[in-house]
Amino acid sequence: MYSSIFRPDLFQGKTMIVTGGGSGIGRCTAHELAGLGATVLIIGRTQAKLDAVSEEITALRGKVFSYVCNIRDEDSVKNLIATIVRQHGHIDGLVNNAGGQFPSPLKNISLKGWEAVLQTNLTGGFLMARECLNQAMEKTGGTIVNIVADMWGGMPGMGHSGAARAGMINFTETAAFEWAQYGVRVNAVAPGYVASSGMDAYPPEMASTIREFPRTVPLQRFATEAEISAAIVFLLSEAASFITGTCLRVDGGRPNVRGGYPMAEVKNKVAAYDGFHLASTPKVLQKQETK
Ligand code: ADE
Repeated sequence: MYSSIFRPDLFQGKTMIVTGGGSGIGRCTAHELAGLGATVLIIGRTQAKLDAVSEEITALRGKVFSYVCNIRDEDSVKNLIATIVRQHGHIDGLVNNAGGQFPSPLKNISLKGWEAVLQTNLTGGFLMARECLNQAMEKTGGTIVNIVADMWGGMPGMGHSGAARAGMINFTETAAFEWAQYGVRVNAVAPGYVASSGMDAYPPEMASTIREFPRTVPLQRFATEAEISAAIVFLLSEAASFITGTCLRVDGGRPNVRGGYPMAEVKNKVAAYDGFHLASTPKVLQKQETK
């Protein structure tokens, strides 16, 4: 079972939504939340992926429900949240994790491609958060964690995603201010390079670049999914009850690298924390050192 650093009953009686719960960071977070007593509602576009994660969680006596929804579609999101409120009564947490992009230099991104990435990574998160607020959290309070990315200073090769994620940070800041009156905290988590299934979604010609990522990170390794989930769980928890409007970077210090200043070889490697019992190394990193 999941080996969380948090108290086993932390989220007993709480209902937590995780979008993109069918794989990667979302799947890991759904497992950790279920392991801490939450009723976890996983959202995604593919029923089969959601079913697989639901079975994994149920096998450990976790409480999980899955819902297929395209978060880009306003009516679908409104109906989804109405259904959830009807079935579960309250929504205590939202992890806005669903996302996706394709690598391309800016000059080759079509309007359709740009808008698709903006809709998935910015508009969809806004719609989910707005509906959770209007249909549930306005009355009860709650916590929202928006998952963004290490896009600080630009995101070469994925400029559409960088623009969307930077927009999500600013949305987080505005929502933190406007929704504090309802007892709703809104924060973000910005993962760096994570050894997760998402790494296998890139074209094969990117494999050698991906394998070299740790060289650009002061802590000189990939993050585990569990290291990202731990940050999300912290921000959802009462331990973060005075934290709103912030972004917690989980990136091994990557944005602190300065061009021209040499990076020292790591002498004492900070060991990875991997509490996720079902974690697996993405194919592109297999036979590679990831920890
Ligand atoms: N995961 C990635 N894109 C998504 C979308 N549009 N809706 C729901 N989950 C997603």
